[in-house]
Amino acid sequence: MFESLQAASADAILGLIAEHKNDTRPEKIDLGVGVYRTAAGETPVLEVVKKAEQILVDTQDSKTYLGTAGAADFNAAMQALTFGDAAPGDRLTTIQTPGGSGSLRVAAGMIMRASPDVSVWASEPTWANHVPLLGGAGLKLKSHPYYDTENHVIKIDEMLAALSTAPAGDVVLLHACCHNPSGLDPSRDDWKAITDLIVERALVPFIDMAYQGFADNFDDDAFPVRHMAERVPELIVATSCSKNFGLYRDRVGTLSLLASDSASRDIVNSQVNNVVRTIYSVPPDHGAAVVTLILNDDEMRSAWMIELDEMRNRLQDMKILLGDALIEHAPDHDFSHLARARGMFCFLGISADQVARLKKDFGVYMVDSSRINVAGITPDNVSYLAASIAATLETE
Ligand code: LMR
Repeated sequence: MFESLQAASADAILGLIAEHKNDTRPEKIDLGVGVYRTAAGETPVLEVVKKAEQILVDTQDSKTYLGTAGAADFNAAMQALTFGDAAPGDRLTTIQTPGGSGSLRVAAGMIMRASPDVSVWASEPTWANHVPLLGGAGLKLKSHPYYDTENHVIKIDEMLAALSTAPAGDVVLLHACCHNPSGLDPSRDDWKAITDLIVERALVPFIDMAYQGFADNFDDDAFPVRHMAERVPELIVATSCSKNFGLYRDRVGTLSLLASDSASRDIVNSQVNNVVRTIYSVPPDHGAAVVTLILNDDEMRSAWMIELDEMRNRLQDMKILLGDALIEHAPDHDFSHLARARGMFCFLGISADQVARLKKDFGVYMVDSSRINVAGITPDNVSYLAASIAATLETE
C-alpha cells in the first residue's frame, strides 16, 4: 500500500525549524516559525505557567478522560476571555480543542456537515496552513485580496468588493488580530464595514484568533469577535493558547460556535461533540487545566498579563530596532512598514530568491514569502541581520 506514496514536501514553516537547527554557523538567525523568543533567544515556560503547573501536580487527583467538549471551567473562562461580558450565552457553545489547529479542523468538520458546498474565503495571503488544513478536511477555498505588497497596506476596498460576490452561506475566514503573515489588521471602521457586508450578504464569519493579547490588549484585540457576535446570527471562532500562554506543545485552544437561537445552539453543541469524537475523541487536559487555574485566580491572571505585556512590547521594539538598523544599512530602501505591523509577523518585502540567498549566504531563515517572526531579532543580532539584508538587496 505505502509503495504507492511519494514523499511529501517539507512544511513551509515547520521545515525551517530543522533546517535552522542543522545549520552550524554560530551567527545564524531564525525568523521562521511563530514562537516567541526572549532577547537571549529562548522560549521559556512562562513563570505563571510554571506556578500553575506546580499547583496542578500537587492537587490533580485523576487523569481520567475529559469529555469530548473538554473541561467546563476551561470553556467558561475562555469564552469570557474571547467574548467578554457580553457573551450571548444562550446562543453560544464553546469546546476545548487541541490548539488552534484542532479547533480549525473541528470547525471544518462542522461546516462540512452543515453546508458541504459552500466556499471558505481566505485572505491572500493567509497563514500557510489554513488552506491545506481546511482543504484537507474537504472544504472548498477561495481567496480575496488583502495585502498590497507594493505599498504595504491592506486592500480593504478590493477585499470588500471580492466578498460582495460571495453567495449567501459562504464562509469568510478572518484573522482577529496580528494577521499572519502580514501583521496588518483592518481598522475598527474596516471591521464594521466587513461586518455590514457579512450581514447584508448573509455570509458566515469564521474568525481565527491565535494572537489575542499580542496586538494591543485582550479586549481590543477581540473587537472583531465581540462586534460580530452582536451583529451576526452565526459565527465561528477558533482561539489558541499556544502564543499568549506559551503553551505551544501542550495544544490548548477553543472552538466557539454562535447559533441563531438557543434551540439551534443545542443541536450545534451535539453535532460538534460528535465531530470531535470522530477525529480525536477527547482533548488533552494539561495545558487547559493550567490556563483555567491562571484565568480564575486574580493574582496569577495579573502575573500572566504582565508576562504577556512583556512579550508584546518586545515584539514591537524589535520591529522598530530592525527598521532603524535598515535605515542605516540600506538607506535607499523603505522598510517603514515594519513598524506598522502588529504581533509576531511582518513581511520584509523581498523576493523568494533573496530569501534563499539570505539563508545560503548568511544563515538567516525566514518563510519564502519573506514573512519574518520578529521574535528572532535581538539587540545583539540586529546589526548582522540588517547588514545581511542590505547585502542581499544589493545583489538583486
Ligand atoms: C506560524 O505561523 O509560524 C505558527 O502559527 C506555527 C505554525 O504552526 O505554522
